[in-house]
Amino acid sequence: MRSSRLPRSLVALAAAVALAVGVGVAPASAHPPRPGHGDKVPVATGYGGAVATVDADATRVGIDVLRQGGNAVDAAVAAAATLGVTEPFSSGIGGGGFFVYYDAASGQVHTIDGRETAPMAMTSDAFVEDGVPIPFADAVTSGLSVGVPGTPRTWATALEQWGSLDLRRALRGATEVARRGFVVDQTFADQTTANAARFAAFRSSSDLFLRRGAAPEVGSVFRNRDLAKTYDLLARRGVDALYTGRLAEEIVRTVQDPPVRRHSPLVVRPGLLELGDLASYEAPLRAPTTVSYRGLDVYGMAPPSSGGSTVGEALNILEASLPEDADPTQTLHHYLEASALAFADRNRYVGDPAFVDVPLEQLLSDGFAKERACLIDPEAALPKPVAPGVPDGVYDAECPIASTGTEGSDGQSTTHLTTADRWGNVVSYTLTIESLGGNGIVVPGRGFLLNNELTDFNFTDTQGGVDPNLPGPGKRPRSSMAPTIILEDGRPFLALGSPGGSTIITTVLQVLVNRLELEMELPDAVAAARASQRNTVAVQAEPAFDRAALQALGHTFTDTPEIGAVTGIEFQDDGSLLAVAEPVRRGGGSAAVVHGR
Ligand code: GLY
Repeated sequence: MRSSRLPRSLVALAAAVALAVGVGVAPASAHPPRPGHGDKVPVATGYGGAVATVDADATRVGIDVLRQGGNAVDAAVAAAATLGVTEPFSSGIGGGGFFVYYDAASGQVHTIDGRETAPMAMTSDAFVEDGVPIPFADAVTSGLSVGVPGTPRTWATALEQWGSLDLRRALRGATEVARRGFVVDQTFADQTTANAARFAAFRSSSDLFLRRGAAPEVGSVFRNRDLAKTYDLLARRGVDALYTGRLAEEIVRTVQDPPVRRHSPLVVRPGLLELGDLASYEAPLRAPTTVSYRGLDVYGMAPPSSGGSTVGEALNILEASLPEDADPTQTLHHYLEASALAFADRNRYVGDPAFVDVPLEQLLSDGFAKERACLIDPEAALPKPVAPGVPDGVYDAECPIASTGTEGSDGQSTTHLTTADRWGNVVSYTLTIESLGGNGIVVPGRGFLLNNELTDFNFTDTQGGVDPNLPGPGKRPRSSMAPTIILEDGRPFLALGSPGGSTIITTVLQVLVNRLELEMELPDAVAAARASQRNTVAVQAEPAFDRAALQALGHTFTDTPEIGAVTGIEFQDDGSLLAVAEPVRRGGGSAAVVHGR
């Protein structure tokens, strides 16, 4: 407990709202395919470096890299590449992501924008036919939704900038897992089953992922030799092998002419991607977002992600509005209200900064936060949706209320990993292929799925003619990914992130509220039942979320089985690392340290 930095002592009250889900150990995998495949443990404490991911193999590969002298960046790339094998429905080289890095030597936080990018041929009405937006599900399983993958370029950039290994060494562990196989667990089987119908529409996808039309059995060994060969190619020739040359041609062919089986009932629209789009792809370094919260410095991902700006704005609103003596109900009430207000502003103002003038400085200013905070009534929930504010630099005590807003998506795909090394470097990295299973299409013979990230654009204007997130040529769709690193006095205190579409933002925010305001230990802050208010009439909440007192304030709720899948690392006062993953959600995650305590 780091109560020295915290203004209030709410330990006992926090216990009252801590959730019923305890920290546990996920069941052991049967028949490991090779020595060293360990059980998943969601909490680990120790020294010398740490890795937390959703998957035991990815965490093991990351820890191996640290043990062999690699740094946090090397471990992050190695673990991410392994997730491309073992979590292929949530991430992989066909997708993109955002990489946030704390460099211990300089004390600086850097980020890489590895977001997928729309083809140059994409116009603002790309998802509209005959004046009507195409069905969302049709857009998901299509060539049209495929953006230029950013993940390979992100790995190369991270290693070149801050790594100590080359790509060949960083991919070694993942390639071995792909070649020798991993044990299928219930989550992998369930995620395959969820995709079975659309995988069946593509020979390349069904050949790789299905066994006689169904998911591979739990406990069986799953190998992906095609992906091992693709990783070998990248190891030999660098990531340019994906952005130019034969593999690039195959990606373009798959997008423009999806390999759908002749008698498939699916309507699979072709995409617009061309070789020039791949060849010109860049993963730029961007300045992080930063806000100060209760004396901590919170760093996040700038646009085109809305993660850093929305988490940051909501924290500013909380700091401006939450009374010193707030009880847990008031704390959660303010969390929900701050989140709704920040989402209204996100929806109105945040998009790709190359196309949209995002008022980032004002969105993250204390003046704007105070103006927004004055809308919060401690005794009653605001009618939702709330209107966006006006971040124009002119702020006073006026609190105008209007009533527009939109609902975000809450996809179950995407994955987050967190690493730290013995030198004090830290990585917080969220990556995705958008929907669970991406666009459902494996590039034939290459072992990886393509993304459907362009469905993160709004298909039609949602903001009265000023929508910042319509498609455009070479534009990056707005993301909600919120890889976060928090410093205290210039040194790491906490790094975390989550998957979950637009619930990523509320998940990161809620874990921070749990940890910093309700003073839960990090494992409890992660395990606690979640609620997500994204400026919608009803709050989405997990069944275990205690809602009676909030309902009395006017909040309404809808149930959702599960929100997010957090991993994080806390840097404790005694110098040890506390690595944390989910105890239960998504089958539980995997945390490990180099030297256990
Ligand atoms: N595809 C999820 C996100 O970028 O927010």
